[in-house]
Amino acid sequence: MNKKILVAAAWPYANGSLHLGHVAGLIGADILARFQRLNGADVLYVSGSDCHGTPISVEAEKQGVPPLEIAEKYHAEFVETLIKGLNFSYDNYTNTLTENHKQVVQEMFLNLYEKKLIYKKTEDLPYCPTCQRFLPDRYIEGTCPYCNFDPARGDQCDNCGKMLDAKELIKPRCKICGTKPEWRPSEHFFLKLSALAKDLKKWLGEEKGWRGNSYNFTKNLLASGLPDRAITRDLDWGIELPLPGYETKRIYVWFEAVCGYLSASKEWAAETGRPDAWQEFWENKKAYHYYVHGKDNIPFHTIIWPAMLIGASDSKLAYNLPDMIVSSEYLTLEHKQFSKSRKWAVWLPDFLSRYQADTLRYYLIISGPETSDADFSWQEFYLKTNNELISTFGNFVNRVFSLTEKNFPAGLNWPKKIDISGQELLQLVKETFKEAGASIEKANFREALRTIFRLIDEANAYVNKTSPWLSLKRDKAKAEADLAVLAFVVRSLAVLLYPYLPTTCESIAQTLGFNLKETKWEYPNADFTKVGEFMPLFRKLSEAEITAEVERLGK
Ligand code: MF3
Ligand code: ZN
Repeated sequence: MNKKILVAAAWPYANGSLHLGHVAGLIGADILARFQRLNGADVLYVSGSDCHGTPISVEAEKQGVPPLEIAEKYHAEFVETLIKGLNFSYDNYTNTLTENHKQVVQEMFLNLYEKKLIYKKTEDLPYCPTCQRFLPDRYIEGTCPYCNFDPARGDQCDNCGKMLDAKELIKPRCKICGTKPEWRPSEHFFLKLSALAKDLKKWLGEEKGWRGNSYNFTKNLLASGLPDRAITRDLDWGIELPLPGYETKRIYVWFEAVCGYLSASKEWAAETGRPDAWQEFWENKKAYHYYVHGKDNIPFHTIIWPAMLIGASDSKLAYNLPDMIVSSEYLTLEHKQFSKSRKWAVWLPDFLSRYQADTLRYYLIISGPETSDADFSWQEFYLKTNNELISTFGNFVNRVFSLTEKNFPAGLNWPKKIDISGQELLQLVKETFKEAGASIEKANFREALRTIFRLIDEANAYVNKTSPWLSLKRDKAKAEADLAVLAFVVRSLAVLLYPYLPTTCESIAQTLGFNLKETKWEYPNADFTKVGEFMPLFRKLSEAEITAEVERLGK
């Protein structure tokens, strides 16, 4: 049986357009999904729009429209930009507004409640006397007690990533009117993390090869003793509690959103016509689960969600826990934080209306925040696109295609004899499949892309060395042999780069007459190449358009 691999990508809040920083945290999921499919696994790649909670209700109030309108609008935009625009190959991209999701969340809540892992408690919560309401999460701001960042939110500090309790905020204030809150009692439901800590520690175990700091961050949180967390809020936008008497409360957006991985899997199964198929991924000790998100999401994926899954597991059903955490660091824009209010952002719909998606995918892997914080600058984007993606890769493919089409329109036969450097190049293709594959599997995307580009460098050197445009005149058979080797490298590159540059590789495959969906991650089996119609793979960027982009920032 094929290996079952779940790729669980973070669910962006549907409260505004996505910018390049969001994409930096999500792109890895598509690379994993595409690679693992080529590699023969059964992949289930799920995500969706996070439509509830204060991120959406605060924005709705600001715009004076119902939260549903905001959520639906941006969900539709995300579908357009992520799937059509960036070519993310989700098996299911859904949202948290569905009936199915609500059922899965309420079932999870009741399961834990019945096991006494969710319990009721009254506590003092911030209440704004001016607005006359409780101030959950994003309705309250203040200074982070751990890193002094301001504004930190009621449930989390965006700077140091720590989960917070509103009580801990220094100088708390109402986000809507600025008033200092009073503290009033309110009854809430708590997730009993204290009772799950031991199992979490056992699951976490020794260093797991997770990305960056996620393992140590989690280990330290567990070592410092986990407080129980409130998982309900005084709010009217979200999923209702499955218990009577709490009509003014909703389930906390994070408790709910992480259940999306499971609900989206169930929805996928139902839509596939095999309603139990989700179990092959979620109740299968041999399955493997990747979680892909930005670093501010870490504790929700390494503490809260595994705790919920451990708690919900019993003799009837033992859920799979995360295997690999692929968290990204932050991306800045021209060395400053992305900011909607300061208009310091490159919005994804704008970007996609002017540039090819694959140029962004390339940039975010080669210069993105995989191992440390990184910066997007237009100048760097210009250089990476024109001088690496186009001059190293695009021009190579173009050269091989044009020389072949012009001189061997009937196609290239596989040579009887290949010179030593040609054999070495083919050997390097073989090694590149192995090496790059091993890196991608461990989520070392940049390392794999560098390995693949080393092959392109060697292939370019081979073009220069053999100069088919010269040998054509003296020794046509030799020119055909050299071009056949080069065309084979192009075909291999279409497979190797497919996880990174899917649109570009689809176009190469079309020119060469093969189908990437039926191709495997391996040294291709091809002894004849015919070059069909083709166009330059990329549009070269001009200085002028880059200058115009820089001008646009902040306005
Ligand atoms: N909406 C969250 C954010 O944008 C991410 C949620 S990931 C989830 O930070 F899976 F939990 F939904
Ligand atoms: Zn207020």
